[in-house]
Amino acid sequence: GNGAAKAGKSRNILEKMEESDKNCVVFYGSQTGTAEDYASRIAKEGHSRFGLNCMVADLEDYDYDNLDQFPEDKLAVFVLATYGEGEPTDNAVEFYEFIGGDDVAFSEGASAEEKPLSKMKYVAFGLGNNTYEHYNSMVRDVDKYLTKLGATRLGAAGEGDDGAGTMEEDFLAWKEPMWTAVCEALKLEEREAVYEPVFEIKERPDLSAEDDTVYLGEPNKNHLEGSQKGPYNANNPFIAPIVESTELFTAADRNCLHMEIGIEGSNLSYTTGDHIAVWPTNAGKEVDRLLNILGLSDKRHTVIAVKGLDSTAKVPFPSPTTYDAAVRYHMEIGAAVSRQFASQLAQFAPNEDIKNEMAKLGSEKDYFHEKVSDRNLNLAQLLEIASKGEPWTKIPFSLLIEGLLKIQPRYYSISSSSLVQKNKISITAVVESSQKPGAPHILKGVTTNYLLALKQKQHGEPNPDPHGLSYSINGPRNKYDGIHVPVHVRHSNFRLPSDPSKPIIMVGPGTGVAPFRGFIQERAAQAKAGQPVGKTILFFGCRKKAEDFVYEKEWEEYKQALGDNFVMHTAFSRDGPQKVYVQHKLEENGEEVNKLLEQKAYFYVCGDAAHMAREVNTLLGKIIAKYRGVDESRGEEIVKAMRASNQYQEDVWS
Ligand code: FAD
Ligand code: 2AM
Repeated sequence: GNGAAKAGKSRNILEKMEESDKNCVVFYGSQTGTAEDYASRIAKEGHSRFGLNCMVADLEDYDYDNLDQFPEDKLAVFVLATYGEGEPTDNAVEFYEFIGGDDVAFSEGASAEEKPLSKMKYVAFGLGNNTYEHYNSMVRDVDKYLTKLGATRLGAAGEGDDGAGTMEEDFLAWKEPMWTAVCEALKLEEREAVYEPVFEIKERPDLSAEDDTVYLGEPNKNHLEGSQKGPYNANNPFIAPIVESTELFTAADRNCLHMEIGIEGSNLSYTTGDHIAVWPTNAGKEVDRLLNILGLSDKRHTVIAVKGLDSTAKVPFPSPTTYDAAVRYHMEIGAAVSRQFASQLAQFAPNEDIKNEMAKLGSEKDYFHEKVSDRNLNLAQLLEIASKGEPWTKIPFSLLIEGLLKIQPRYYSISSSSLVQKNKISITAVVESSQKPGAPHILKGVTTNYLLALKQKQHGEPNPDPHGLSYSINGPRNKYDGIHVPVHVRHSNFRLPSDPSKPIIMVGPGTGVAPFRGFIQERAAQAKAGQPVGKTILFFGCRKKAEDFVYEKEWEEYKQALGDNFVMHTAFSRDGPQKVYVQHKLEENGEEVNKLLEQKAYFYVCGDAAHMAREVNTLLGKIIAKYRGVDESRGEEIVKAMRASNQYQEDVWS
């Protein structure tokens, strides 16, 4: 968030480093919090192992035009995630535009040719996903720009790959040689690492969890005072009523939710194709598990005041709060635990044997994978297994705040049309629940199971996880009546053509159909209003017609409005002896697809990034090649050009 700007603090990074006595700044460009987390880990490690005085800095909180005065005895670290189609994360857009700009202007006025950054030493690590075409383009570009401007990189620029699932190991492998290079350049010596807490946690027996000054999940003061105020955004979600919730699957063992989120009176607006961000609450069972193993169950409602021990440490949630609320609403406690965190925890083990086991887990990659990663253990499960249930009472609460990601919103492709329902946002979300072979438990997605619990509550259905809903908005305070969920809207570039008479082709298997429901709803309304609407073709796929064919009845209604202009091709992968996917249907209809593309039809793909979206991209090149009589490499080029001109648009996730 733009914390510095909000608080009217200085945007001058050099001044900030000077006054807080720092010789290292770790900048991050982060969308979902992972890059931010790596940034704080680098900062902490730099200090504990090498005595570097590090601060972490959100790229959007500072100006960059004085980086040409960055002192030579200091270090700049860039931890940069690449988002979507090779884009910078929201908080890094300005930096990216500045540093890569054609006529980048620094305060001293040196031109790019004069190497204005020649004093700056930096290291860089990127977070990317090789299933996307522009793999790690952020770190690659920024590294190139910095070098061009004269800055000196220490060590190699690291690249972590979320697509291959090796992010953590890529990071660990990158950082050791990086530290060696940094030590050499800055003449640092490694010292015996000691844990130094970043936050001070003061218990406040003078306050009670019932006091109305104590935060129980409210994101900020307005919310605490019961008067939420806009503008609503990532720093200030709107607590929205769930107007309606229904189950879309008929399968007994899987759930897919349709929800209508009310945004009336919030001043939130959306455009068809946008995303809604949903802020989850951890499941009560997992909150209990963690508090138990930390020995905090008895004190869970004790009020605590949390403060940064240093002016650059941002407390990631409002205070005063309680142990329970901090864990339940603000920490990503269900996520896989990292090897580095396991190794850090060893020193706080209840006894020597457990300490040795944790140290082994922390230092031996394969052992850690076998015992922890492959079994999908979260922090509490690891602690439980490692100590056989004996509580870990020595872990400083600060270390948990530092070591766990702060809870992140999950994004959903809005499945309604803003033209049709301006004040209600539809969500189509499949509930995540899976068990890997050998894993000791079912892995449940935090947000989708939270939404499922809200739906169950709304309908008075049995809720297998009664603690799952103790979010303050429904919990003890009951400030907001009914069923609510904190949300904000994220605008996207996924757009219908402005002229509805243009043809469109949509490929969206599974929940990938979400935004297309919005698209088709919109075109049906336009047709009803008498506007000329072009060919509207949807390729949809699911497992079985009778189980997960979402909105089956609704498509019929749209057909009524759009007539023959709406065509739906369905692929049911598990109804017949052979798998049928949307790709097969695309291929069967290749001639028409190509013809429509030649008439400048827009082509949209939504859903699974890892396989489906790539395969569709490749297939489209082949279809074009076949029906235009050109070779396949030319077909690929045409698809590339379609992407560049936005004729081909993707809304994909993995
Ligand atoms: P999470 O708790 O985030 O878990 C997600 C997955 O992470 C799990 O299934 C598991 O594979 C893994 N995981 C979790 N814990 C562990 C662990 N301890 N160890 C190992 N692995 C673990 N989804 C939809 O259903 N509909 C949409 O329209 C939609 N649109 C999207 C649009 C965008 C732009 C993006 C980025 C995503 C979209 N998604 C959509 C996906 C959605 O944002 C969520 O990722 C999804 O709902 C899962 O969220 P969750 O909180 O339930 O699961
Ligand atoms: P499957 O699970 O039976 O393999 C929605 O998830 C639909 O997408 C399901 O029918 C699923 O089939 C299908 N699917 C799985 N992998 C796919 C891929 N690589 N390309 C297209 N569809 C795929």
